[in-house]
Amino acid sequence: MADFTPRVFSGIKPSGGLTLGNYLGAVKRFVDWQDRGTHECIYCMVDLHAITVWQDPADLTRATREICAFFIASGIDPERSVLFNQSRVPEHAQLGWIFNCVARMGWMNRMTQWKDKAGRNAEAESLGLFAYPALMAADILLYHATHVPIGEDQKQHVELTRDIAAKFNHDYGVDFFPLAEPVIESVAARVMNLRDGSRKMSKSDTVDATRINMTDDADTIARKFRKAKTDPDPLPSEVAGLEGRAEARNLVNIYAALSDVDAESVLRDHGGEMFGHFKVALADLAVAKLSPISAEMRRLTADPAEIDRVLARGADRARGIATPILERTYDIVGLVR
Ligand code: TRP
Repeated sequence: MADFTPRVFSGIKPSGGLTLGNYLGAVKRFVDWQDRGTHECIYCMVDLHAITVWQDPADLTRATREICAFFIASGIDPERSVLFNQSRVPEHAQLGWIFNCVARMGWMNRMTQWKDKAGRNAEAESLGLFAYPALMAADILLYHATHVPIGEDQKQHVELTRDIAAKFNHDYGVDFFPLAEPVIESVAARVMNLRDGSRKMSKSDTVDATRINMTDDADTIARKFRKAKTDPDPLPSEVAGLEGRAEARNLVNIYAALSDVDAESVLRDHGGEMFGHFKVALADLAVAKLSPISAEMRRLTADPAEIDRVLARGADRARGIATPILERTYDIVGLVR
């Protein structure tokens, strides 16, 4: 393969609220990539993906600005990383169309997220939802990204991105698009539902007590952890003792991720404690880590014009990378420009 600049791309959909899962599973890791300084980092609010299912327009606008504030409040520096919303860089849709013509119907039909979302009612879903993974491939390949930090649920989409890159390169006899690597979050960073440790913490769960929202105040955070499901046994002193105790494991993992240590070290300090005690320590830690972020988010969202300026500047920088890659793609395909 040709030499590609080490580059990270990832995206978050502006639909619904933000949870602790978005922070520990995604944005905190994006900050780590940025601070490591080994890769150019591009982070995108994927609004064109959001509208593959219905979004109220005012909510979509608000959610886009809120995610931008969340990124910045969590430590993304919009000068060191490229931070923008997808629809402002029309090259995503342009390359997305070309990839609609590369990807095969059979590939798309096999996508488990499509099958889960469309269920038995595929006829009523949007064409955009079906084509979603081809647009996601365009997001990644428009920047020749080499690494894509994602959750386990997006792994199949990044594999499809590799298939699209390989088929494009093969069909046109070029070595143009890189085979981007999915970088999957560790199990420890996957934040589970506070009432059912076998399910992911989700912004769309109807029961609010199952999740920590980035906008929850200190009392709410403390109450939700206090009421989180656990079992009657004390904390084990080794990770092996979490086997078959999904809820206990989840709280230990959250504690570990918030304090930037591993689960072993949390259990070394807290093994033998009862959950009543540990949950208080966890709530205190969560409030200490999250309240500066939510306060900064409130400050930033109070000035939407400033957020829009950040996004406009991010989009300009994104286009600086995307334009020559799309132009070259047009030439390869034979589109006269
Ligand atoms: N599909 C991703 C999700 O639902 C969001 C996304 C869109 C994305 N384009 C991307 C993630 C490109 C990584 C890279 O979480």
